[in-house]
Amino acid sequence: MTLRLSVIGTNYLGATHAVGLAEFGHHVIGVDIDPHRVKTLNSGQSHIFEIGLEPLLERHTATGRLRFTTDYSQIADWADVHFLALGTPSAASGAADLSQLYAAVDTLAPLLTKATLVVGKSTVPVGTAMQLEQRLREGSPAGDAIEVAWNPEFLREGHAVDDTLQPDRLVFGIHSQHALELLEEIYAIPLTEATPVVRCDIATAELIKAAANSFLATKISFINAMARMCQAAGGDVSLLADALGYDKRIGREFLSAGLGFGGGCLPKDIAALAVRARELGVYELSDFIASVEAINDRQRTELAELAIGQAGGDVHGKRIAVLGAAFKPGTDDTRNSPALTVADYLHACGAEVRIYDPQAHLQPREGFTQVASIEQAMLGADVVLHLTEWPEFRQLDPQPLGELVKSKIIIDGRLKLHGPTWINAGWKLVQIGRPETF
Ligand code: UDX
Repeated sequence: MTLRLSVIGTNYLGATHAVGLAEFGHHVIGVDIDPHRVKTLNSGQSHIFEIGLEPLLERHTATGRLRFTTDYSQIADWADVHFLALGTPSAASGAADLSQLYAAVDTLAPLLTKATLVVGKSTVPVGTAMQLEQRLREGSPAGDAIEVAWNPEFLREGHAVDDTLQPDRLVFGIHSQHALELLEEIYAIPLTEATPVVRCDIATAELIKAAANSFLATKISFINAMARMCQAAGGDVSLLADALGYDKRIGREFLSAGLGFGGGCLPKDIAALAVRARELGVYELSDFIASVEAINDRQRTELAELAIGQAGGDVHGKRIAVLGAAFKPGTDDTRNSPALTVADYLHACGAEVRIYDPQAHLQPREGFTQVASIEQAMLGADVVLHLTEWPEFRQLDPQPLGELVKSKIIIDGRLKLHGPTWINAGWKLVQIGRPETF
């Protein structure tokens, strides 16, 4: 059955979710407070770089099945279900800042006059959904006829459309049969494709998302700590990760050592879980997460110090080429990007930093220059840093690039460059956790 759905918040999560729901056959209105974003989306264009998003936006805005507005009164009683897809950034304390969610429900509540299901997609501290339900009920003429459910999203930037259309699993955190039936109707298409579903209480649904991101971050920090062990003992962390990965209980994914995790989700979500764990007195978990964070932070400093060492112990007046600015390949997102932390550190130590990234556009800022080509970045460089593993960097021919740089030294912060190719072209290749010749 075709439903009428609203999606409140149209950034990475909301825009992709709105498009996904339209692709599942529903009528969808996306709501955002930013009129520019709404205008862009209504013209079938995307304000973010996300593979596969724009063709679906074009298709569904053209048929009229999907549109966007800044006006909540257009969605309030129109929609059968409202999705909350707002950002929950980190507050200074590390706790999740829920102000966008509160502002959205406070705008929506007075406009709701009939029984309504409001479904959260954002990552939130456990307990948030019930607070929102109370707030909605208190602020709305519909009162107790409003119900909240939680249906966390697991999409990865760069794969957001595929992850939405073919999710690994669906989580329905509900407290009524009615909410469950509506969610099953909304997701009828992935459900016919045998997508696993976890039906659970709302607190479990909230915790599942926080736990999933924390576990992924833990895998990365574990392998990075092992990289440091390899560095100390002379081992090779890539081979170690391969061997671990063949164990089906462990798996190879999220065991790529290097500069560690960044982006708009993992760092903030694990910080928020740590804060919530402390609030609830679960200190074992908050201490555990603090170790995961410390290992992750250390990788960035370690790499910057390695660069200084390779530049002769002092980078004052030295030129550093940085390949990659996005927090990972396949996105233009530079939020909490490990590459930029390293660039900032080296700039603060007096280096002249030039950055190239195929997608990310940096705001002009003091500290480094963004250049339009790999060659411009490398020209006269004392050290080259490979910090985001875009596939095109793996295809580079080190021979001609060697003519451009001042010193043929490259530090591979993502352990993805083919060592023999660079070494045979006369370069010194340095990788944390791998021997220099292999
Ligand atoms: C993550 C989760 O994967 C997703 O399920 C959730 O909904 C949002 O947060 P995303 O932030 O898009 O998605 O990035 P992801 O692909 O998970 O990568 C996170 C970071 O970990 C990146 O900085 C990446 O470079 C790093 N990473 C990933 C590693 O350092 N090593 C790995 O082996 C894998």
